[in-house]
Amino acid sequence: MEIARNLHADALSRGIHAEAMPLNQIGLASLTGPSAPLLVMVASSTGDGDPPENAAVFWTLLKKEQGKPDLLRGCKFTILGLGDSNYTQLHFVPKVLRTRMLELGATQFYAHANADEVDGLEGVVDPWSDGLWTALDAALKTKAAAAANGPANGVSEQEGLASQDVKPTANGKHTPAASEQEQGYGLVNGLAPEDADLKGAPAPVPCKVMVEIVSQADAVAQVHAAEAAKPGPAELSSRVEAGAYTAKQPFWSPITDARLETAPWSDRRVLHVQLGIHGSGMCYDAGDAIGVLPSNNAQLVSSTLDRLGLQPDAVINIVGTDQSEDPTPHIPRPCTLCHAFTHCLDLTSCASRKSVLRVLAEHCTDASHKRTLMFLTSRAGRKAYSVEVLEQQPTLLDLLSRFSSCQPPLDALLNVLPCLQPRLYSITNAPAQDPDSVQVALSVVRFKTMYSTREGVATSWLDRLAGPLLEGKKAMPQVRVPVFLKKASDFKHPSNLSAPIIMIGPGTGVAPFRGFLLTRRAAIAQAAAEGKEPCAGPSYLYFGCRREDEDFIYRSELQELHKEGTLNHLRVAFSRAQDHKVYVQHLVAQDAVALTDLILNHGAYVFVCGDGAHMAKDVHAALQAALVQQGGLSDGEAAAKLTAMAQQERRYIRDIWS
Ligand code: 2AM
Repeated sequence: MEIARNLHADALSRGIHAEAMPLNQIGLASLTGPSAPLLVMVASSTGDGDPPENAAVFWTLLKKEQGKPDLLRGCKFTILGLGDSNYTQLHFVPKVLRTRMLELGATQFYAHANADEVDGLEGVVDPWSDGLWTALDAALKTKAAAAANGPANGVSEQEGLASQDVKPTANGKHTPAASEQEQGYGLVNGLAPEDADLKGAPAPVPCKVMVEIVSQADAVAQVHAAEAAKPGPAELSSRVEAGAYTAKQPFWSPITDARLETAPWSDRRVLHVQLGIHGSGMCYDAGDAIGVLPSNNAQLVSSTLDRLGLQPDAVINIVGTDQSEDPTPHIPRPCTLCHAFTHCLDLTSCASRKSVLRVLAEHCTDASHKRTLMFLTSRAGRKAYSVEVLEQQPTLLDLLSRFSSCQPPLDALLNVLPCLQPRLYSITNAPAQDPDSVQVALSVVRFKTMYSTREGVATSWLDRLAGPLLEGKKAMPQVRVPVFLKKASDFKHPSNLSAPIIMIGPGTGVAPFRGFLLTRRAAIAQAAAEGKEPCAGPSYLYFGCRREDEDFIYRSELQELHKEGTLNHLRVAFSRAQDHKVYVQHLVAQDAVALTDLILNHGAYVFVCGDGAHMAKDVHAALQAALVQQGGLSDGEAAAKLTAMAQQERRYIRDIWS
């Protein structure tokens, strides 16, 4: 989404009237006819080749209209595909979207491109974006000329534009990025202003938000009372059907247990946290994830509000300038500024958005501050943007401190600050062990930047909430975490216990496999209780960490599971215990004979969980090499086998993140 948002900001800075929105908000009828805009799609694929949620409606619309070659005649578009070659369905969604658009009669005004997360998106995205503006400029000029000359001057009727369509809009519409899904689609429509001078002064970011400060004592008291009543587990539970909790209506779960899994002296801090879900009706399985809605650090909130000259307990009411849609659905109204800044707004990763940088630039009184911020959003400043913003990850407060003359008004900020997003954590236990609790392993994020010491919003928040338990004190039932359940599609323990299972998960990637093993333990025990042979297939777990005494999380439990025979092979790669690196893929290579036999001759399931930027790719290469060296397959056959296992057989299943 960031790429679509940045393109949108770039378009605005070039004086092009543009909107950014999820594809689901687009009707096909709006893409043709005299007032149709040019369409720039940014589309990614999910692991299974399904469209992301916020594009599913558009995807279905295109599919439904198949066989109508004139439906989108006159529509001009281009598409940038994003994907991850760790997955076999790389770029499936953008490729199909493009084909369907062309089949329905649309034409491309600029060549499409596909970028791969594994190689680094910038290598493709940057040159593609560079070329886009010239092509867009040309396409807009053609449209404007067609509008001026009319169809009689050789432009087809479908491509003609009524003159009002190339006038600048008084109030450009901007759908706040906050309502978009992180991994979803973005879209930018370009509409040229009347005398399109693309090199002119940057247009201000159109603001759709107006904020009223409600000062009546009664209103303030009411809002404070309402906010104080939250969280209200009992109240919320009664409003939500059992088990149907979502990010919008979460279950308020108590933290019932927590412990540190890494050595106290290590700079890695992995916590095991248990959340109570009794009474929620949630039915989880090993492999599912729990969504957590975090809150921003109280100190960061108060310092940010202070820097902006805002009172935390001021009550605000938000009014959209366009009443037909809600520009800030994530902010309740009325609410206190403290509530909005603590629970609703992203104050940390927001600063990488060019729209945020542009709003800050618009409100600097010092010309050099303004120039630097504009430079960071410009093409010439791309390198600086990459180093100072993308790498260093400043918070909003970091930027406000660096650019001390910047004083953005509240409505301009609320217009661009995104919604604070939920975080997903793999569940690491199994319902057979405890149906009323979910457990997660989380690595607390904390790192130094050129601006300040940055904390991960959710992991540091959970670390603070779990503080008393980590110190050996009693659980505090009043401390609640808003959660919802995210069911896994494929990442599940095989229903057939006799199938061999190969689990590869270094670091916190081991989390779902602990759940799988607890599931196996229960299944084996149940079979024994029923007097049956359990017939459990062979099981392998590949875990990786730095050193045995530093970050071997769940060490005693995994060793116990191994000792009792639930887990047949516990293979641990200690990366820093010797002078050369030993990683999970090296152990996979050592076991190539056994693994190849299990994969090719015994229908083994292979699960990989963890870092997708390097580990998953290296593990994939090790598996492929094993199939070549021990299975007698050619390189191509081995690659095709892994693809078939991932797509058709559904027994090479990955849950990876970059
Ligand atoms: P390192 O930090 O010593 O490089 C869990 O984070 C473990 O994964 C660590 O032992 C880490 O080792 C290791 N790791 C880092 N890069 C990896 C890679 N490309 N493949 C597999 N494991 C990796």
